[in-house]
Amino acid sequence: MTSTPPQPPRLRVLSGFRPTGPMHIGHLVGALENWVRLQETHDCFFAIVDWHALTSEYEDPSHIREHTVEIAIDWMASGLDPERCTLFVQSHVPEHAELHLLLSMIVPLSWLERVPTYKEQQEQITQRDLANYGFLGYPVLQAADILMYRAQVVPVGDDQLAHLELCREIARRFNGLYGDVFPLPQAMTTRTPRLPGTDGRKMSKSYGNAINLSDPQEGIRRKILTMVTDPARKRRNDPGNPDVCPVFDFHKAFSTEATRAHVNVECRRAGIGCIDCKNLLLQHLEPVLAPFQERRRRLAGERARVLDILVAGARRARLAAQSTMERVRAAMRLDVGGLR
Ligand code: TRP
Ligand code: SF4
Repeated sequence: MTSTPPQPPRLRVLSGFRPTGPMHIGHLVGALENWVRLQETHDCFFAIVDWHALTSEYEDPSHIREHTVEIAIDWMASGLDPERCTLFVQSHVPEHAELHLLLSMIVPLSWLERVPTYKEQQEQITQRDLANYGFLGYPVLQAADILMYRAQVVPVGDDQLAHLELCREIARRFNGLYGDVFPLPQAMTTRTPRLPGTDGRKMSKSYGNAINLSDPQEGIRRKILTMVTDPARKRRNDPGNPDVCPVFDFHKAFSTEATRAHVNVECRRAGIGCIDCKNLLLQHLEPVLAPFQERRRRLAGERARVLDILVAGARRARLAAQSTMERVRAAMRLDVGGLR
C-alpha cells in the first residue's frame, strides 16, 4: 500500500473580475496566467462580480449578462479548470449581499471617502453619475467577496491595493468587535510587465485600444500592424528607440530573448523597419494565442455547458459562504434560533 504524506492545507485564494466588457490580452499576461498557476497550489475561488459591474452600469445593465458568459469562456480557454478551482458568478451566491450589509454597519464613512479610487473615478468618469450609495460601498462589497471565503491570498493588480488594505481594516474591526472570524487577507501582485494598448496608452476597453481575447486572428494581425511605434521614427531610415515603443513591450511579453535582442539592436540602427518588427512579433504572438483561440472556439459552441459549470461553481461557493455566514451570525449574536 502506498501512502501519501500528509499535505498542509492549501491556502485559500479569492479574486474577482467585473463583467463590464471583453477581456483582453493584457488580462491574460497580467492576471489569468497567474491564476492558472495558482489553481495547482492553492484552493482557488474566482468570481465574476456582476454586482460590482452594476455600480457603473446600473443605467443599462443589459450587457452584463453577456459579458459574464464571455468571461467564463475566456477563463476556461486560458486554462482555469473547473475541476481544480471554483468559478462562479457573485449574484448566484446571495450571501455576498448579506455579508455586505452586515459589514456596512461597522465601516466608518471616512474610511470609504478616503479610498483613492473613489474620488479619482468620480472625477474621471464624468459621463455617469457615481454619487450613489452603492458606488461608495464598492470596497465593502469587495471585502465581503474576500472575507466570505476567509481567503488568505488575493491576487490583484496594484490598482487594487487600497481596496485590499481597507478589506484588512474591516476584517480587523470585525474580529475586534465580535471575535476572530476572518483571517487577514494578503494581496498578491505579480510583476508582469504592463502591456500597453495599440495607441501606447494603458490597454483598456474604454480607450478602444485593446486586443481582445475574443478577437479573430485576422483582427489581431490588423491591430498589431497598425499599432503606434516610436513616434520619433517617421521614416524607414530613421533609427528608433525600443525603450519608448509599445511594440517592444509586446516583444518583452511574447518574444524570445533572441528576437528581443535582435530588435533592440536593429531598431536603433534602422536595420529593420517597424513592419518587419511587427511581423516578428506576430510570429511569436500567434502561436501563443492559437491554442487559446482553439479552446475558445470550442467553448463558445457549448454555452449551455459553460452555464452548467458556473451553476455547479456557485453551488460549491455557496457551501463555503453558508458556513462562513453561520460563524458571522453567531459571532454577532444574530443566531436567534427558531427561524433557521
Ligand atoms: N475591484 C476589483 C477590480 O476592479 C474586482 C473585484 C471585486 C475583486 N471583488 C473582488 C478583486 C475581490 C479581488 C477580490 O479589479
Ligand atoms: Fe518599435 Fe520595432 Fe519600430 Fe523599433 S522597429 S520603433 S521597436 S516597432
